[in-house]
Amino acid sequence: MTAMATKSNTIETQISSSENIPTVEDKFKMIAENVTISYGDKPAVKDVTMKFKEKSVTALIGPSGCGKTTFLRCLNRMHDMTKNAKVKGKVMIDGIDLYSKEIDPIYHRRKVGMVFQKPNPFPTMSIFDNVTAGLRLNGVRDKKVLNEIVEDTLKMAYLWDEVKDDLKKPAVELSGGQQQRLCIARALAIQPEVLLMDEPASALDPIATQKIEETITELKKEFTIIIVTHNMQQAVRVSDYTGFMYLGDLVEFRETKKLFTDPKNELTAKYVQGQFG
Ligand SMILES: Nc1ncnc2c1ncn2[C@@H]1O[C@H](COP(=O)(O)OP(=O)(O)O)[C@@H](O)[C@H]1O
Ligand SMILES: [Mg+2]
Repeated sequence: MTAMATKSNTIETQISSSENIPTVEDKFKMIAENVTISYGDKPAVKDVTMKFKEKSVTALIGPSGCGKTTFLRCLNRMHDMTKNAKVKGKVMIDGIDLYSKEIDPIYHRRKVGMVFQKPNPFPTMSIFDNVTAGLRLNGVRDKKVLNEIVEDTLKMAYLWDEVKDDLKKPAVELSGGQQQRLCIARALAIQPEVLLMDEPASALDPIATQKIEETITELKKEFTIIIVTHNMQQAVRVSDYTGFMYLGDLVEFRETKKLFTDPKNELTAKYVQGQFG
């Protein structure tokens, strides 16, 4: 376990029952402040402020096209690569502005891993090479280190037992659910501290979905997780906090249980009762 030093396993469990959103005493891993994201001059995310508590799961829900993916991508500076996208506002990680000119964008971006909606393993590579691709790109060659990281991350992604004798097998021969857990392992291999997941189970069957959800629940002992999900039951099952977005606005952001059982906003109430979506 030298390469993938185990982080503290303590989870802060004391969440104030009277407060809806994370409080000032909580330790925030990331903070998005007054974030507006536009494509051309059309805003897709409007003045959103959200704080993400360390080692917790925050879910983003809302109907299709409301800006969930657009918002998630700004937490990893992924809009840098989109020609017509403009991000305004502040995104902080560990108190440092991810968009400030002074920071090393590569170093800070590497703290944030991403898992996409469709499993996207590198198609020509083996399971082993998929996990280690990022490391090898960064010059890690030591076979022993690579072996350790492959084992550690595949265990964290709950895939190890299923593939440990087949690491040379092409990744594309895995099932969809296994491929997605491989993508989680690949994201973990670069040792991020925050994990962004954009509907990671939407392409999977119920059993694979359950495995992904179990993985998320385990991972939050070490990582701060932000997950976009279409599936409200999934948000209830895996998340501590939930933000409901509608037409680019963050309508309500509270503890998951409260948002679903006692929504403050009428629109949230209608959405969680399934009256639109
Ligand atoms: N690359 C893009 N260029 C222009 N408009 C986009 C782009 N990506 C998303 N949009 C628009 O931004 C809005 C929000 O999209 P998105 O963030 O994908 O929503 P969600 O993930 O909630 O379904 C939609 O109106 C969508 O059409
Ligand atoms: Mg989306």
